Amino acid sequence: MYFNEEKICLITGANSGIGRAAAEALARLGVNLIIAARNKFRGEKTLNELVENSGNRNIELLIADLSSQKEIKALADQIKSKYNRIDILINNAGAYFSKRHLTEDGIEASFAVNYLSRFLLTNLLFDLLKKSKHARIINVSGEHHRRGKINFNNLNFDKKYSGYAAAAQAKLADVLLIYELSRKLIGNKITANSLHPGAVSSSLIYNDPDAGYFSKFFYSILSLFMKSPEKGAETILYLAASPEVSNVSGNYFINKKAVLSSPESYNKALAQKLWDVSEQLTEPFILS
Ligand SMILES: NC(=O)c1ccc[n+]([C@@H]2O[C@H](COP(=O)([O-])OP(=O)(O)OC[C@H]3O[C@@H](n4cnc5c(N)ncnc54)[C@H](OP(=O)(O)O)[C@@H]3O)[C@@H](O)[C@H]2O)c1
Repeated sequence: MYFNEEKICLITGANSGIGRAAAEALARLGVNLIIAARNKFRGEKTLNELVENSGNRNIELLIADLSSQKEIKALADQIKSKYNRIDILINNAGAYFSKRHLTEDGIEASFAVNYLSRFLLTNLLFDLLKKSKHARIINVSGEHHRRGKINFNNLNFDKKYSGYAAAAQAKLADVLLIYELSRKLIGNKITANSLHPGAVSSSLIYNDPDAGYFSKFFYSILSLFMKSPEKGAETILYLAASPEVSNVSGNYFINKKAVLSSPESYNKALAQKLWDVSEQLTEPFILS
Protein backbone atom coordinates (compact mmCIF):
# COMPACT_ATOMS: atom_id res chain seq x y z
CA MET A 1 0.00 0.00 0.00
CA TYR A 2 1.29 3.42 -0.84
CA PHE A 3 0.29 6.94 -1.74
CA ASN A 4 2.30 8.66 -4.41
CA GLU A 5 0.69 12.00 -3.64
CA GLU A 6 -0.82 13.74 -0.62
CA LYS A 7 -4.23 12.37 0.31
CA ILE A 8 -6.82 14.08 2.45
CA CYS A 9 -8.87 11.60 4.43
CA LEU A 10 -11.82 12.08 6.75
CA ILE A 11 -12.61 9.25 9.16
CA THR A 12 -15.44 9.18 11.68
CA GLY A 13 -15.35 7.23 14.93
CA ALA A 14 -11.57 7.19 15.24
CA ASN A 15 -11.52 7.34 19.04
CA SER A 16 -11.71 3.62 19.60
CA GLY A 17 -11.91 0.18 18.05
CA ILE A 18 -11.67 -0.33 14.31
CA GLY A 19 -11.70 3.39 13.44
CA ARG A 20 -8.86 4.09 15.84
CA ALA A 21 -6.74 1.29 14.33
CA ALA A 22 -7.50 2.51 10.80
CA ALA A 23 -6.64 6.11 11.75
CA GLU A 24 -3.36 5.01 13.30
CA ALA A 25 -2.36 3.12 10.13
CA LEU A 26 -3.45 5.96 7.82
CA ALA A 27 -1.50 8.46 9.92
CA ARG A 28 1.60 6.28 9.53
CA LEU A 29 1.05 6.23 5.75
CA GLY A 30 1.39 10.02 5.84
CA VAL A 31 -2.21 10.88 5.02
CA ASN A 32 -3.51 14.35 5.81
CA LEU A 33 -6.05 13.06 8.31
CA ILE A 34 -9.24 14.63 9.67
CA ILE A 35 -10.76 12.77 12.60
CA ALA A 36 -14.34 13.58 13.51
CA ALA A 37 -15.27 12.82 17.12
CA ARG A 38 -18.25 13.70 19.29
CA ASN A 39 -16.32 14.26 22.49
CA LYS A 40 -13.63 16.98 22.63
CA PHE A 41 -11.72 15.47 25.55
CA ARG A 42 -11.55 11.96 24.07
CA GLY A 43 -10.90 13.40 20.61
CA GLU A 44 -7.94 15.47 21.82
CA LYS A 45 -6.45 12.45 23.57
CA THR A 46 -6.73 10.45 20.34
CA LEU A 47 -5.28 13.31 18.29
CA ASN A 48 -2.25 13.64 20.57
CA GLU A 49 -1.62 9.89 20.56
CA LEU A 50 -1.96 9.64 16.78
CA VAL A 51 0.53 12.47 16.25
CA GLU A 52 2.95 11.01 18.79
CA ASN A 53 2.74 7.42 17.51
CA SER A 54 2.95 8.25 13.80
CA GLY A 55 5.07 11.40 13.75
CA ASN A 56 2.46 12.77 11.32
CA ARG A 57 1.56 16.37 12.21
CA ASN A 58 -1.09 16.71 9.50
CA ILE A 59 -3.92 15.43 11.66
CA GLU A 60 -6.87 17.58 12.63
CA LEU A 61 -9.66 16.94 15.10
CA LEU A 62 -13.17 18.22 14.36
CA ILE A 63 -16.04 17.79 16.78
CA ALA A 64 -19.50 16.52 15.80
CA ASP A 65 -22.09 14.29 17.36
CA LEU A 66 -23.30 12.34 14.35
CA SER A 67 -26.71 11.75 15.93
CA SER A 68 -27.40 15.45 15.31
CA GLN A 69 -28.06 16.67 11.77
CA LYS A 70 -27.23 20.22 12.85
CA GLU A 71 -23.78 19.07 14.02
CA ILE A 72 -23.20 17.07 10.82
CA LYS A 73 -23.99 20.19 8.81
CA ALA A 74 -21.61 22.26 10.97
CA LEU A 75 -18.90 19.59 10.53
CA ALA A 76 -19.31 19.67 6.74
CA ASP A 77 -19.21 23.49 6.77
CA GLN A 78 -15.95 23.47 8.76
CA ILE A 79 -14.39 20.94 6.40
CA LYS A 80 -15.47 22.99 3.36
CA SER A 81 -13.97 26.14 4.84
CA LYS A 82 -10.61 24.47 5.48
CA TYR A 83 -10.08 21.95 2.69
CA ASN A 84 -10.45 22.20 -1.06
CA ARG A 85 -11.03 18.48 -1.58
CA ILE A 86 -11.54 15.14 0.17
CA ASP A 87 -9.82 12.07 -1.30
CA ILE A 88 -11.00 9.41 1.14
CA LEU A 89 -14.18 9.45 3.23
CA ILE A 90 -14.44 6.65 5.77
CA ASN A 91 -17.90 6.43 7.35
CA ASN A 92 -16.97 4.25 10.29
CA ALA A 93 -18.63 5.67 13.44
CA GLY A 94 -21.37 3.42 14.71
CA ALA A 95 -23.20 2.57 17.89
CA TYR A 96 -25.42 -0.17 19.29
CA PHE A 97 -28.56 0.70 21.22
CA SER A 98 -30.11 -2.19 23.13
CA LYS A 99 -33.01 0.12 24.06
CA ARG A 100 -34.83 2.54 21.80
CA HIS A 101 -33.69 6.17 21.76
CA LEU A 102 -34.78 9.06 19.59
CA THR A 103 -32.30 11.71 18.46
CA GLU A 104 -32.92 15.45 18.73
CA ASP A 105 -34.20 15.21 15.12
CA GLY A 106 -36.79 12.61 16.19
CA ILE A 107 -35.02 9.72 14.41
CA GLU A 108 -34.43 6.30 16.00
CA ALA A 109 -30.81 6.49 17.17
CA SER A 110 -29.43 3.35 15.50
CA PHE A 111 -30.78 4.44 12.11
CA ALA A 112 -29.59 8.02 12.68
CA VAL A 113 -26.02 7.25 13.79
CA ASN A 114 -25.28 4.10 11.80
CA TYR A 115 -26.90 5.15 8.54
CA LEU A 116 -28.57 8.55 8.14
CA SER A 117 -25.50 10.49 9.36
CA ARG A 118 -23.51 8.82 6.59
CA PHE A 119 -26.10 9.68 3.95
CA LEU A 120 -26.11 13.31 5.05
CA LEU A 121 -22.35 13.75 5.53
CA THR A 122 -21.53 12.11 2.20
CA ASN A 123 -24.08 14.28 0.39
CA LEU A 124 -22.82 17.45 2.04
CA LEU A 125 -19.23 16.58 1.05
CA PHE A 126 -20.02 15.63 -2.56
CA ASP A 127 -18.53 18.84 -3.96
CA LEU A 128 -15.24 18.23 -2.14
CA LEU A 129 -15.16 14.57 -3.17
CA LYS A 130 -15.69 15.59 -6.80
CA LYS A 131 -12.64 17.84 -6.58
CA SER A 132 -10.39 14.86 -5.83
CA LYS A 133 -8.62 13.24 -8.78
CA HIS A 134 -9.92 9.93 -7.55
CA ALA A 135 -12.06 9.86 -4.41
CA ARG A 136 -13.02 6.80 -2.39
CA ILE A 137 -16.10 6.51 -0.16
CA ILE A 138 -16.02 3.64 2.33
CA ASN A 139 -18.93 2.57 4.54
CA VAL A 140 -18.21 0.24 7.43
CA SER A 141 -21.28 -2.00 7.41
CA GLY A 142 -21.49 -5.51 8.86
CA GLU A 143 -22.66 -9.06 8.20
CA HIS A 144 -25.79 -8.45 10.27
CA HIS A 145 -27.07 -6.44 7.27
CA ARG A 146 -28.15 -9.88 5.97
CA ARG A 147 -30.84 -10.04 8.67
CA GLY A 148 -31.98 -6.46 8.01
CA LYS A 149 -35.27 -5.23 6.57
CA ILE A 150 -35.99 -1.62 5.65
CA ASN A 151 -39.31 -1.06 7.36
CA PHE A 152 -40.54 2.11 5.66
CA ASN A 153 -43.79 1.87 7.65
CA ASN A 154 -41.90 1.60 10.91
CA LEU A 155 -38.41 3.07 10.24
CA ASN A 156 -38.28 4.50 13.75
CA PHE A 157 -39.37 1.24 15.40
CA ASP A 158 -42.36 3.03 16.96
CA LYS A 159 -44.20 -0.26 17.29
CA LYS A 160 -41.77 -2.84 18.58
CA TYR A 161 -38.05 -2.24 19.21
CA SER A 162 -35.22 -4.72 18.98
CA GLY A 163 -31.62 -3.46 19.18
CA TYR A 164 -30.46 -6.17 16.81
CA ALA A 165 -33.22 -5.50 14.24
CA ALA A 166 -32.50 -1.75 14.39
CA ALA A 167 -28.76 -2.35 13.86
CA ALA A 168 -29.45 -4.81 11.03
CA GLN A 169 -31.79 -2.33 9.31
CA ALA A 170 -29.14 0.42 9.53
CA LYS A 171 -26.36 -1.83 8.24
CA LEU A 172 -28.49 -2.97 5.30
CA ALA A 173 -29.19 0.72 4.62
CA ASP A 174 -25.39 1.33 4.59
CA VAL A 175 -24.90 -1.30 1.89
CA LEU A 176 -27.89 -0.02 -0.13
CA LEU A 177 -26.49 3.51 0.13
CA ILE A 178 -23.13 2.43 -1.28
CA TYR A 179 -24.74 0.64 -4.23
CA GLU A 180 -26.98 3.63 -4.95
CA LEU A 181 -23.99 5.99 -4.67
CA SER A 182 -21.91 3.88 -7.04
CA ARG A 183 -24.76 4.04 -9.60
CA LYS A 184 -25.22 7.79 -9.16
CA LEU A 185 -21.47 8.45 -9.26
CA ILE A 186 -20.66 6.68 -12.52
CA GLY A 187 -18.32 8.96 -14.47
CA ASN A 188 -17.37 11.05 -11.44
CA LYS A 189 -14.04 9.37 -10.60
CA ILE A 190 -15.46 8.53 -7.18
CA THR A 191 -15.66 4.94 -5.98
CA ALA A 192 -17.98 3.73 -3.22
CA ASN A 193 -17.63 0.42 -1.38
CA SER A 194 -18.78 -1.10 1.89
CA LEU A 195 -17.33 -3.79 4.09
CA HIS A 196 -17.70 -6.09 7.03
CA PRO A 197 -14.71 -5.73 9.40
CA GLY A 198 -15.20 -9.14 11.04
CA ALA A 199 -16.19 -9.81 14.64
CA VAL A 200 -13.86 -7.35 16.32
CA SER A 201 -13.12 -6.72 19.96
CA SER A 202 -14.00 -3.04 20.39
CA SER A 203 -15.90 -0.59 22.60
CA LEU A 204 -19.25 -1.12 20.85
CA ILE A 205 -20.98 -2.78 23.79
CA TYR A 206 -19.45 -0.37 26.34
CA ASN A 207 -20.78 2.56 24.27
CA ASP A 208 -24.33 1.20 24.46
CA PRO A 209 -25.98 3.52 27.01
CA ASP A 210 -28.22 0.69 28.28
CA ALA A 211 -25.85 -2.30 28.27
CA GLY A 212 -26.08 -4.06 31.61
CA TYR A 213 -23.32 -5.58 33.68
CA PHE A 214 -24.14 -9.09 32.40
CA SER A 215 -23.90 -8.13 28.69
CA LYS A 216 -20.61 -6.34 29.29
CA PHE A 217 -19.20 -9.30 31.18
CA PHE A 218 -20.40 -11.76 28.51
CA TYR A 219 -18.89 -9.53 25.80
CA SER A 220 -15.56 -9.31 27.61
CA ILE A 221 -15.34 -13.13 27.53
CA LEU A 222 -16.46 -13.33 23.88
CA SER A 223 -14.00 -10.64 22.85
CA LEU A 224 -11.12 -12.95 23.79
CA PHE A 225 -12.03 -14.92 20.65
CA MET A 226 -12.58 -11.93 18.40
CA LYS A 227 -10.28 -10.16 15.93
CA SER A 228 -8.11 -7.30 17.13
CA PRO A 229 -9.11 -3.79 15.94
CA GLU A 230 -5.91 -3.77 13.83
CA LYS A 231 -7.05 -6.92 11.98
CA GLY A 232 -10.56 -5.47 11.74
CA ALA A 233 -9.17 -2.32 10.11
CA GLU A 234 -7.33 -4.19 7.36
CA THR A 235 -10.17 -4.15 4.83
CA ILE A 236 -10.77 -0.43 5.48
CA LEU A 237 -7.10 0.24 4.75
CA TYR A 238 -7.21 -1.93 1.66
CA LEU A 239 -10.19 0.02 0.30
CA ALA A 240 -8.64 3.35 1.30
CA ALA A 241 -5.13 2.83 0.04
CA SER A 242 -4.64 -0.13 -2.25
CA PRO A 243 -4.07 0.62 -5.95
CA GLU A 244 -5.83 -2.70 -6.67
CA VAL A 245 -9.22 -1.12 -5.92
CA SER A 246 -8.71 2.34 -7.37
CA ASN A 247 -11.35 1.65 -10.05
CA VAL A 248 -13.51 -0.79 -8.11
CA SER A 249 -16.90 0.53 -7.03
CA GLY A 250 -20.23 -0.79 -5.82
CA ASN A 251 -18.91 -3.80 -3.94
CA TYR A 252 -19.14 -5.30 -0.49
CA PHE A 253 -15.87 -6.61 0.98
CA ILE A 254 -14.86 -9.10 3.63
CA ASN A 255 -11.20 -9.85 4.32
CA LYS A 256 -10.15 -7.65 1.37
CA LYS A 257 -12.27 -9.69 -1.07
CA ALA A 258 -15.44 -8.55 -2.86
CA VAL A 259 -18.27 -10.90 -1.88
CA LEU A 260 -22.01 -10.97 -2.47
CA SER A 261 -24.06 -9.03 0.04
CA SER A 262 -27.66 -9.97 0.87
CA PRO A 263 -30.10 -10.41 -2.05
CA GLU A 264 -32.18 -7.52 -0.65
CA SER A 265 -29.19 -5.14 -0.86
CA TYR A 266 -29.22 -5.44 -4.68
CA ASN A 267 -32.84 -4.26 -4.93
CA LYS A 268 -32.47 -1.02 -6.94
CA ALA A 269 -36.05 0.14 -6.29
CA LEU A 270 -35.50 -0.30 -2.55
CA ALA A 271 -32.22 1.65 -2.71
CA GLN A 272 -33.86 4.51 -4.63
CA LYS A 273 -36.79 4.62 -2.20
CA LEU A 274 -34.39 4.68 0.75
CA TRP A 275 -32.48 7.52 -0.92
CA ASP A 276 -35.71 9.50 -1.41
CA VAL A 277 -36.85 8.93 2.19
CA SER A 278 -33.37 9.85 3.47
CA GLU A 279 -33.50 13.10 1.48
CA GLN A 280 -36.84 13.90 3.10
CA LEU A 281 -35.48 13.12 6.56
CA THR A 282 -32.47 15.40 6.07
CA GLU A 283 -34.14 17.94 3.81
CA PRO A 284 -33.30 21.21 5.58
CA PHE A 285 -29.59 20.43 5.23
CA ILE A 286 -29.44 18.59 1.92
CA LEU A 287 -31.22 21.41 0.13
CA SER A 288 -29.45 24.31 1.85
N1 LIG B 1 -16.93 -4.66 16.35
C1 LIG B 1 -17.53 -5.48 15.49
O1 LIG B 1 -17.49 -6.70 15.63
C2 LIG B 1 -18.24 -4.91 14.30
C3 LIG B 1 -18.85 -5.79 13.39
C4 LIG B 1 -19.49 -5.28 12.28
C5 LIG B 1 -19.51 -3.92 12.07
N2 LIG B 1 -18.92 -3.06 12.97
C6 LIG B 1 -18.96 -1.61 12.70
O2 LIG B 1 -17.66 -1.06 12.81
C7 LIG B 1 -17.77 0.34 13.11
C8 LIG B 1 -16.81 0.69 14.22
O3 LIG B 1 -17.26 0.07 15.40
P1 LIG B 1 -16.29 -0.51 16.55
O4 LIG B 1 -16.62 -1.94 16.69
O5 LIG B 1 -14.91 -0.09 16.31
O6 LIG B 1 -16.94 0.23 17.82
P2 LIG B 1 -16.39 1.32 18.84
O7 LIG B 1 -15.06 0.90 19.40
O8 LIG B 1 -17.51 1.54 19.80
O9 LIG B 1 -16.15 2.60 17.93
C9 LIG B 1 -17.24 3.36 17.47
C10 LIG B 1 -16.79 4.77 17.24
O10 LIG B 1 -17.94 5.51 16.78
C11 LIG B 1 -18.04 6.70 17.53
N3 LIG B 1 -19.44 7.14 17.69
C12 LIG B 1 -20.48 6.45 18.22
N4 LIG B 1 -21.58 7.23 18.23
C13 LIG B 1 -21.22 8.43 17.71
C14 LIG B 1 -21.91 9.64 17.48
N5 LIG B 1 -23.20 9.81 17.81
N6 LIG B 1 -21.23 10.68 16.96
C15 LIG B 1 -19.92 10.56 16.64
N7 LIG B 1 -19.20 9.43 16.83
C16 LIG B 1 -19.86 8.38 17.37
C17 LIG B 1 -17.45 6.38 18.90
O11 LIG B 1 -17.06 7.60 19.51
P3 LIG B 1 -16.75 7.76 21.08
O12 LIG B 1 -15.29 7.44 21.20
O13 LIG B 1 -17.06 9.18 21.36
O14 LIG B 1 -17.62 6.80 21.80
C18 LIG B 1 -16.29 5.47 18.51
O15 LIG B 1 -15.16 6.24 18.18
C19 LIG B 1 -19.24 0.59 13.43
O16 LIG B 1 -19.87 1.16 12.31
C20 LIG B 1 -19.77 -0.81 13.71
O17 LIG B 1 -21.14 -0.94 13.48
C21 LIG B 1 -18.27 -3.52 14.08
